[in-house]
Amino acid sequence: MAMGKPARRLFTGSPAPHEGALIPALQELQEKLRHLPAAGLAEISERLGIPLSRVFGVATFYSQFSLQPRGKHVIRVCLGTACHVRGASQVLEELHRRLAVGEDGLSADGLVSVEPVRCLGACALAPVVVGADGRYFGGMTPAKVGKFLQELRGGKRG
Ligand code: FES
Repeated sequence: MAMGKPARRLFTGSPAPHEGALIPALQELQEKLRHLPAAGLAEISERLGIPLSRVFGVATFYSQFSLQPRGKHVIRVCLGTACHVRGASQVLEELHRRLAVGEDGLSADGLVSVEPVRCLGACALAPVVVGADGRYFGGMTPAKVGKFLQELRGGKRG
């Protein structure tokens, strides 16, 4: 596919033509736009000389990247087996209810994404939720969600 010169650059990273620059470029774009739009992936492909299919493959492999817009803050709810059998779905529902999360996973104000994930490697703490600041919260219940959100709001950065 021939790519015209983009009107503006979506990322400013070094255009080093090798795979080692791919993940930093994707991270920069994700940080800047909170997701990886198709135009950005095409630009990275062009600038780094890496096939678009490879760029797309890496962008969809790592959970840190998202092709859909994300909120400024991301909360991850584990729905792996151990968490599921201990009520993770009810925790997720309560988060959705309190933050008015839509089908796109974004809160009503667009600031928070709530993302279901599979096994965070902390099954002994099930059900587990990872806060926007990266902290793990174990033994979550719907009744604890309010306090969890309060704690995150108190500790929010930026
Ligand atoms: S299943 Fe949730 S942390 Fe492993």
